[in-house]
Amino acid sequence: EKSGYEHFMLKEIFEQPKSVHDTMRGRLLVEEGVIKMAGIWDHIERFKNANRIIIIACGTSWHAGLIGEYLIEEYARIPVEVEYASEFRYRNPIITDKDVVIAISQSGETADTMAALKLAKEKGAFIYGICNVVDSSIARITDAGSYTHAGPEIGVASTKAFTAQLTILSLIALKLGKHNGNLGNADFMSLIAELDAIPKKIEDVLSSTHELVQNIAKDFVNATNFLYLGRGYNYPAALEGALKLKEISYIHAEGYPAAEMKHGPIALIDENMPIVIIAPKKGHYDKIVSNVQEIKARKGKVIAVVNNGDTQVSEMSDYVIEIPETSECFSPIVASVPLQLLAYYIAVYRGANVDQPRNLAKSVTVE
Ligand code: M6R
Repeated sequence: EKSGYEHFMLKEIFEQPKSVHDTMRGRLLVEEGVIKMAGIWDHIERFKNANRIIIIACGTSWHAGLIGEYLIEEYARIPVEVEYASEFRYRNPIITDKDVVIAISQSGETADTMAALKLAKEKGAFIYGICNVVDSSIARITDAGSYTHAGPEIGVASTKAFTAQLTILSLIALKLGKHNGNLGNADFMSLIAELDAIPKKIEDVLSSTHELVQNIAKDFVNATNFLYLGRGYNYPAALEGALKLKEISYIHAEGYPAAEMKHGPIALIDENMPIVIIAPKKGHYDKIVSNVQEIKARKGKVIAVVNNGDTQVSEMSDYVIEIPETSECFSPIVASVPLQLLAYYIAVYRGANVDQPRNLAKSVTVE
């Protein structure tokens, strides 16, 4: 049921305050200052003694994995590798029984992710699942796991499952960091309070940017290309923003780490190139300011996602989308929301079938 929304995708975008909250419910106990996750706690020794964590996934779930790498390395100080399941399974990777392999999958049925997990299991790795669909194949084959409680996701373009995956990865990183002593109590307490505030911030973003983003989308209905840029935690968010746009609007879009621009993509920039840039205050802001200057010097059209009250990037940008400030590590959760809306409205105005884009299936059960 679309509950009055025109498409499942829009409904699911709007469900995110709830789906993120549901994913934290019973796990994030701010008052007590604890994160409860049975899947992690029951196997804490495996995580503690892990040589490294390998995250495997496809598509949007792989983007969540990249952010998971930043989170886990920053807070738990455990080395993390993130790999496309389809590459991992065919390249004879080195896997040992000291590795922890985390598979991320909304459907829990993705063929490549499943095959990669089987391989890791055969080699003795401890395998952990982050799935949305309860009792799915991946959820069943893994040694342990944590469900994202996003609820059923019908739109082929993943939205609420992605932010729920980021929520779980945040919880895991903070829990492991606290446990192994890399994350001090004061920092842990302030991070969990920030995380707890995310559903409300998503709600604010939905109400404050919905109309604005619709208007921005109207100006880009005929665009043929888009670049999405971000740095640090928001580099994978840029990849995800670009994927959303291309899969539902069929406009070619690429995501890049902003600093990589001068290694090639800057050659593409002219007055016809729209560039979405994610520029929150916390997270290499000064560097982003110079990236925006470089783009404007070449007349690119900048759509900037900035924090409320931003001036420097905003003054240079053609379009400004304001979002509330949060810790850098959680900013992709909030920043992704207007990017989902942007992709959605551009696709709708182009008359595309947003919930069922051409050539795509909700779960990719063949390789
Ligand atoms: O169900 P999974 O999370 O394993 O699916 C992985 C990808 O097929 C999926 O994220 C795909 O990229 C989506 N259409 C993205 O919106």
